[in-house]
Amino acid sequence: MNELKIILMGFGAVGKGVAKAISVKKDNIKEKYGVTLKLVAVADSSSSAISESGLDEDLLLKTKETSGNLASYPEFGSKINGEEVLDVVEYDLLVEATPTNINDGEPAKSLTLKAFNSKKDVVTSNKGHLALFFSEMNEVAEKNNVQFKYEASVGGAMPIINFAEETLPSSKISSIIGILNGTTNYILSRMTSEGSSYKNTLQESQQLGIAETDPTQDVEGIDAACKTVILANSILGIDATYSDVEVVGISKITSEAIQLADKEGYLIKLIAEVSKDALKVSPRLVKKNSPYAVDGTLNMATIKTDLADEVTVVGKGAGSLETASAMLTDVINIIKTKN
Ligand code: HSE
Repeated sequence: MNELKIILMGFGAVGKGVAKAISVKKDNIKEKYGVTLKLVAVADSSSSAISESGLDEDLLLKTKETSGNLASYPEFGSKINGEEVLDVVEYDLLVEATPTNINDGEPAKSLTLKAFNSKKDVVTSNKGHLALFFSEMNEVAEKNNVQFKYEASVGGAMPIINFAEETLPSSKISSIIGILNGTTNYILSRMTSEGSSYKNTLQESQQLGIAETDPTQDVEGIDAACKTVILANSILGIDATYSDVEVVGISKITSEAIQLADKEGYLIKLIAEVSKDALKVSPRLVKKNSPYAVDGTLNMATIKTDLADEVTVVGKGAGSLETASAMLTDVINIIKTKN
């Protein structure tokens, strides 16, 4: 293989990060693996740019920034979107970065299944279809003999799924305990350092673009619960779905509780626990100088194993380029299997 034709679905923060990452890294990838990454279609929710001969990443980003969509991409812009994009151009790999939908996993689920059934590999950052239909999605990938990679769905740039599979295969993993949501970690860290209220800190993080306008998924623990399910299935082999996770968010945490914990040498963190006995997301007290004491939007996870004892990973849990870095790693891992 000397060329990889990619369809990129979703052109929000993560999708744009993927275009940027490809623009910056494609020469290195070509040099190291002999493969040219070629974006043949990029779509957002209402428009697309499609060209068999390849699109220019920087022009895609500029078009989106100036017009808000991709229909005005010179010569190749169109109103085609959704599943139809997968019908109108030849491709090898679907990179799927549409927004997470925890109600029915769409549109990620249908896009992904359509790609699998056309014998195409898929890389995703999406959590909805994985948290709701993990086994089904993986079964269809297996049946079609294609690869399904989702490192970016948990912890952004923090290595975890590939790390467990590729770096710790000698050990049996019994649990993963960690901080799997950057927004809530930022809010709790600021409440601790500034002594500020939950409400004001949430507003501050919305102004900074860390928390979303509707922060429910993050602050009520839904995002972390999705990631808990993905880790349970992918690393511990537990056949679980989203409704199996016990979830409590951080919206009831007061600055008084944080200060009280602080005086005793503790921090309050939103902790996810993944084990045979518990699938749980809840605020917990952690010791100040423990591996759980990471600040800001950082994520961390302590992986408990039989041979290697405990291994802790830390990394940026959110961010456009950070999340895209995990997706590009998945793309490279797929290239390596084909060379
Ligand atoms: N909103 C998530 C977080 C990032 O704050 O960690 C995407 O999973």
